[in-house]
Amino acid sequence: NVGLRSCVYPASLRRNACSSPSALRSCMSAWVIDQYGTDGVLKYTEEMPVPSVGSTSEVLIRVHAASLNPLDISMKGGYGAKLLNLRRDPMSVMAGASEFPLVLGRDVSGEVVDCGSDVTHVVPGDEVWAAVPPWKQGSLAEFVTLTEYEVSHKPKLLSHTEAASIPYVANTALSALVNAGGLCRDSASNKRVLITGASGGVGTFSIQLLKAWGAHVTVTCSQNAEGLVRGLGADEVVDYTAGDSLELLEMMEKFDVILDNVGGETEEWATGLLKPWSGAKYVTLVSPLLLQTDSMGLLDGMLQAGLSLHNKAMQNIISCGVFYRWGFYAPDGPALDEVSKLVDAGKILPVVEAQFPFTQVPQAFQKVENGHARGKTVVRVVEDDDKRAEGLGRTRRSEAADSEQEEREMATQN
Ligand SMILES: NC(=O)c1ccc[n+]([C@@H]2O[C@H](COP(=O)([O-])OP(=O)(O)OC[C@H]3O[C@@H](n4cnc5c(N)ncnc54)[C@H](OP(=O)(O)O)[C@@H]3O)[C@@H](O)[C@H]2O)c1
Repeated sequence: NVGLRSCVYPASLRRNACSSPSALRSCMSAWVIDQYGTDGVLKYTEEMPVPSVGSTSEVLIRVHAASLNPLDISMKGGYGAKLLNLRRDPMSVMAGASEFPLVLGRDVSGEVVDCGSDVTHVVPGDEVWAAVPPWKQGSLAEFVTLTEYEVSHKPKLLSHTEAASIPYVANTALSALVNAGGLCRDSASNKRVLITGASGGVGTFSIQLLKAWGAHVTVTCSQNAEGLVRGLGADEVVDYTAGDSLELLEMMEKFDVILDNVGGETEEWATGLLKPWSGAKYVTLVSPLLLQTDSMGLLDGMLQAGLSLHNKAMQNIISCGVFYRWGFYAPDGPALDEVSKLVDAGKILPVVEAQFPFTQVPQAFQKVENGHARGKTVVRVVEDDDKRAEGLGRTRRSEAADSEQEEREMATQN
């Protein structure tokens, strides 16, 4: 609820279309797809129309950095097209209109350049971050528009490159853990949580969030990711590639919540690790909903998915009293405001495994497609940010060095 946000700017500061760089030009650079497919469909163009603030609650953002998620790889191949098109514009779907050219990229860190007249939380010039909903044009472009509700002020301590690694996984993890998993900052401290697939984007964020909330966190990952997840705070680490991983998990005290980033076979054994008859919850991020609407059509696919969710939920509640749920990304700027505070308090760190310049977006897609993520892959859309970030890093380091020097001098004088 944007109304709950504390910072409200006067109306005189809200609209700034004349000074906006986008107002000076009609076209922008972007990576687009004109058709679904695996190889060679990503195309660079300098002729994508610059989006405009189309409603009074919209914000136009100049993108400084974007990041990729597994969803971008799937959407490139057409995953979710039927349901997402319905969400994009139901009337165009009826009329058979095309969604192309489509811009992918779900995270943005950048600068506000224009705001609708009802926008109160941000003004042009503000540095913001956001997760771009998959039914909207993405962030692999110079500009993107979002509603005010979806946008949040970026953490001050992060460069745009670092900040772009967080919003989509943060909104997903918060939606899954809070809405589906029933956890929150005040209730998590005595909870035991298992995260499967913890070395990727959602997992590395979730470990840190849950530790900031005081939960006990057990994770599964490959052996070579153990150092990473322990460094982020994981209490217990189980190598899923070792033959005895399930036995190890079964020997542990049972869990209150499981966040499953893997799906498939994991689902078959994971619910047995939950505390029975205690309101424990299994939340999977890998649901068949979009696959089924793609293959069976909207109505049949949704019915089939709904039926399968209902059956699994009933089976689990009747047999052992645990809740079976699907988790989904949900846009939520106010939730990102809270994450921003945790980042600036040093409780959540960005985990950027790889970064690519805007000229190398196909290589960035290849990196994510190869799997085995250890955090996030980021695309730098504006190159100057890195130099600025290095500068900031140096400033922070030198400030720390200066204060150490002062302390040493005072100690010597005493
Ligand atoms: N429903 C939604 O709205 C939603 C939103 C976001 C994400 N998701 C889905 O949630 C999943 C996680 O997302 P993500 O962004 O974190 O993906 P990611 O960055 O690709 O991370 C997946 C991680 O899981 C590890 N892994 C693979 N198989 C595993 C196994 N059997 N046991 C334990 N770890 C395993 C991978 O490393 P190794 O292969 O090296 O072990 C990798 O580190 C993806 O399937 C994604 O599509 C869904």
